[in-house]
Amino acid sequence: MACVMDGNGRWAAQRSLPRSAGHQAAEAAVIDVIEAAHAAGVQWLSLYAFSTENWRRPCDEVDHLMWLVRRTLRKHALALHARGIRCRFLGVGDPRIPPTLTRDITDLMELTRDNKRMTLTVAFDHGGRRDIVEAARSLIRDRVPAEDVTEANFAGHLPHPDTPDVDLVIRTSGEQRISNFMLWQVAYAEWVFPEVLWPDFRAAHFWECLTAYRQRRRRFGDVTVPATTDEG
Ligand code: IPE
Ligand code: IPE
Ligand code: MG
Repeated sequence: MACVMDGNGRWAAQRSLPRSAGHQAAEAAVIDVIEAAHAAGVQWLSLYAFSTENWRRPCDEVDHLMWLVRRTLRKHALALHARGIRCRFLGVGDPRIPPTLTRDITDLMELTRDNKRMTLTVAFDHGGRRDIVEAARSLIRDRVPAEDVTEANFAGHLPHPDTPDVDLVIRTSGEQRISNFMLWQVAYAEWVFPEVLWPDFRAAHFWECLTAYRQRRRRFGDVTVPATTDEG
């Protein structure tokens, strides 16, 4: 499952605080959701932290987000590792990312690479379209003939190709759009759009979303109505 963590700016505006305060308050929600997902036995959790489009934001906001991601990683790295969480990142190719942050990201991936309990994928400097274009480039570089390109081998050229399709996406703050998030992997995802702003999102909201998901009847284009699969 995945979360589009939206509403930090509005959370701050409601309190007459700078947007940076909303981003800082988001950390508590991130930790609560990771804990809740871990407790629920979710095996694959993806969090959308920064999009390729977020580079359009004012420099000071971007700088603050970079600083905050680094601080959060450093603060929680050992706890994530102790819980058996494997951490991965989607994106992180942009030269504007501070080298110190890139190093911390690499260290965290290395530290947690053999963990088995849950995989946490942080979509950071991520764009779904960019991933698809990169996969196409990779196929061409490998000289795969056009007639041999299938959905399965195309998906094999996406970053972290062992990541399963997303079953459930939670987008907070009431916004109802994809915003270029894991376009390939969300093709058949269920979506829920709680009104709560991300910094206020807690385990109880997470459980409500899971309950809503369990009541969905996924058809995958068919006419039969199978029960929903386990979350993951
Ligand atoms: C989500 O909150 C955080 C990021 C996109 C990095 P926003 O900053 O988009 O908050 P709103 O949408 O302005 O309230
Ligand atoms: C999507 O939120 C990206 C993240 C949550 C990281 P945005 O707030 O950037 O999306 P738009 O601009 O409302 O589509
Ligand atoms: Mg937003």
